[in-house]
Amino acid sequence: MDLPADLAASLEAATADLSLRELEASVDRLIARYRTPGRADRPILSGAVDAAAYAAYRMPATWGAVRAALSATATRLPGLAPQTLVDVGGGTGAAAWAAAAVFGATLKDVTVLDQVPEALDLGRRLARDAFSGALRHTDWRQVRFPAEIPAADLVTVSYVLSELAPEAQDALVRASAAAGETIAVIEPGTPDGYQRIMAARDVLTDMGLHIAAPCPHSRACPLLGTRDWCHFASRIHRTPLHRRLKGADLGHEDEKFAYVVATREPLAEAASARILRHPQIRKGLVMMQLCHPDSTVAQALVSKRQGDAYRAARDADWGGTWAPDAPSLDGGGLS
Ligand SMILES: C[S@@+](CC[C@H](N)C(=O)[O-])C[C@H]1O[C@@H](n2cnc3c(N)ncnc32)[C@H](O)[C@@H]1O
Repeated sequence: MDLPADLAASLEAATADLSLRELEASVDRLIARYRTPGRADRPILSGAVDAAAYAAYRMPATWGAVRAALSATATRLPGLAPQTLVDVGGGTGAAAWAAAAVFGATLKDVTVLDQVPEALDLGRRLARDAFSGALRHTDWRQVRFPAEIPAADLVTVSYVLSELAPEAQDALVRASAAAGETIAVIEPGTPDGYQRIMAARDVLTDMGLHIAAPCPHSRACPLLGTRDWCHFASRIHRTPLHRRLKGADLGHEDEKFAYVVATREPLAEAASARILRHPQIRKGLVMMQLCHPDSTVAQALVSKRQGDAYRAARDADWGGTWAPDAPSLDGGGLS
């Protein structure tokens, strides 16, 4: 996936006057902090350079993760047409940009809530020349949670929970779900990120919401209690700015993420399973680990003799869906 051209251009412009050295020092500090998730008593982003470093180094990856999660949601809920979005702990607006990429046809009204004024200021500047009118007119509001969350068709909580104490995480998910018709919670694709998503999922199902993605069911996660954890990956092509900052040789990065999307509207039972790993392609055989609508996890083997199904399985992606009888794929995985 490429970052939207308007976002890539505004990121370049917004960081052009800053010293690369200063940005790198800030990136190093942020990397170290985010490697040890835990409650932050003070905002982790402290000032304009931190906000710029975050936007240049993390925002493309979090944008890619949220975009992949929302694309999978749009596949599962083809009628979903949010007009209003509230991005909780939105920082520089990665999730708002991702929502505009997936729901640009309907999105009209965007509000980003965050405690760090410099992140909101930068988000406002980044969105000033966005192609999307909804992004250009975003309401950037300084708020420290716990606080009231305005009602919206879609509420995103992206890469926020790890900065809060466990009880504050539950409270934020509860308040976000109370405000939204559909709520998406996204976290890093680490074992502890998955645990936070499982806790958020419990809050959402306790509130009577229905799980839309990635799970094809609202029952308990079949991976709980195993050594495995549900996560996905989104491949982002690095911009020149990103490469300079990370001193990176590779032209892309793979962001691992875990997520849950739930909705107030009851859902028809899912017809497809979720692909939980990169499909393994062997000679004449594709192997896929699937989470099924009956909440079981099983390995599926599709052989060359299965013709169309085999051809579809060869194109299947981690994070996409697989209907054993009528293969239908969505682009939820690395692309
Ligand atoms: C890792 S950043 C994620 C930013 C953005 N959502 C993204 O996906 O790129 C976490 C954000 O949550 C915000 N945040 C954390 N705790 C908060 C609180 N108690 N009140 C308001 N914002 C908070 C931080 O200021 C920061 O901008």
